[in-house]
Amino acid sequence: MWGSLWDADRKHSISHPKLYPETAIIVPSMTDGLSYDQSLFPALDALSHAMESIWNRNAGPESDALAVRAIEALSRALGGGYAERFAEPAVRKAVQDASVDAGLAISRTRTAIAHSISYPFTARLGVPHGLACSFTLPEVLKLNGAHSPERGLLIAEALGAASVDEAVSRLDALYAALGVPARLAAAVGSRRKVAELEAAFIAPGRAENNVAPVDQAGAERLIAASLSRLGVA
Ligand SMILES: [Fe+2]
Repeated sequence: MWGSLWDADRKHSISHPKLYPETAIIVPSMTDGLSYDQSLFPALDALSHAMESIWNRNAGPESDALAVRAIEALSRALGGGYAERFAEPAVRKAVQDASVDAGLAISRTRTAIAHSISYPFTARLGVPHGLACSFTLPEVLKLNGAHSPERGLLIAEALGAASVDEAVSRLDALYAALGVPARLAAAVGSRRKVAELEAAFIAPGRAENNVAPVDQAGAERLIAASLSRLGVA
């Protein structure tokens, strides 16, 4: 039930039950012409939606089930040579279905800290949304897994890992295979540019949904750790 309005450099969210669509048309072949990046970034956004709805104060059995199914499917599709296979009809359908599941999950919980952090990256540096809201996922998983082990393990198991630590390693390997580090470095520029933003990374209505409390300093620590994790100089 949400829409976005972009001011010069700010994102405004609008929210109303009347914004729920009456009909959604989900046809994988309508994405046939999209490039790898145009296919990758929304898939990463879907992964972020699924994980953010699990480490969320508003999570419930319904959103958990949808999110776990989305993570399992995205893990299979993105981990199975996505850079070479993204245009295959079966892969497009799997990612699109997972995106719908993740969207249904996030529509029940709202987003959390990874999205809160993402907005200045998109508004001020032009980082594509799906990249901006996913580059912190390994660090946020570490933080939230330590705070809420049960939430962390739910995500880890959906990623096919036995522990949060193993899940973080899997995400690192997945991001490397997908070419995320190079794309993030190209989009962000440098860590100095991020520091110079002096942006507010705590967006009301989003950050406080996160199971572990995160303030501006905590968000800056997550960003610094994520940028060095992904090799942004
Ligand atoms: Fe998103």
